[in-house]
Amino acid sequence: MTTGEPAVLVRATSALAAATVAEVLVSALATCAARHGRADLASTGGSTPAAVYRALLAEPLRALVPWDVLHLWVGDDRFVPRGDPDCNLGAIDLVLLPGDPRGGLAPAPLDPAHVHAWPIDAALAAGESPARAAARFEETLRTELAADASGRPVFAAVLVGIGSDGHVLSIFPGSAAFDAPGWATWAPAPTHIEPHLDRVTLTPAALDATPGLVVAAFGAGKAAIVAALLGPGHRDRAARAAAERHLPALRARRGGATWVLDADAAAGLATDDPRVLR
Ligand code: 6PG
Repeated sequence: MTTGEPAVLVRATSALAAATVAEVLVSALATCAARHGRADLASTGGSTPAAVYRALLAEPLRALVPWDVLHLWVGDDRFVPRGDPDCNLGAIDLVLLPGDPRGGLAPAPLDPAHVHAWPIDAALAAGESPARAAARFEETLRTELAADASGRPVFAAVLVGIGSDGHVLSIFPGSAAFDAPGWATWAPAPTHIEPHLDRVTLTPAALDATPGLVVAAFGAGKAAIVAALLGPGHRDRAARAAAERHLPALRARRGGATWVLDADAAAGLATDDPRVLR
């Protein structure tokens, strides 16, 4: 069950909001690296990460990222080869690893072996199913990550976006992922939202143990779902847990999480909402 309420940071523009996401992530990653000598970030697909990665590559954050001990995962992916435009590693492969010479940003000093793709290329080559790829990914996760006392994976930080239907990761409304016992699972291609591709995804449990859960939602297209997710309709914690199956991103409405919104996405929140810092 989710507990507590998140902090909600609202910035005037999506560019400022992306910079704030980067700052929050760096704080969580640096803290974890100092304590444990390693920092695991599960990042997201969607439209958000490219701007976040550019902020990480630029000073002053660049000097604060624990690059040498940073391990990068994506929380969910589509069942397509790496390099496909629909692959969620795109922003890592196009911005973070190569840098952005036009923007004066040098490549990330990140060991490419620390980028842990879902083993989709191998599964496709072997004719294996998304379920098998998810199982293999979970095996890797379990060898690389610590679990908390409840057996949930502890990332230093998890960055997620939210869909206009309330999905988070590739956990869609009505998803069987809520009943999956482990850390990773698969989802059949959604028909109500593009791209219509089979998915592999972390399970809801993966959002629970991380101390650095960051939710990013930018643009007017997110205003209605943000208002539904953070609004008074889901204030009651027990009712919220039940409603998650229809609005999976409610799982990320919990204490310790940070929601970062631009002004357009925050337009449906009350101006006197005590969780909001503008
Ligand atoms: C995916 C993503 C998904 C994404 C949301 C929000 O594979 O589709 O991981 O969960 O984060 O759809 O995406 P945007 O931030 O681009 O709207």
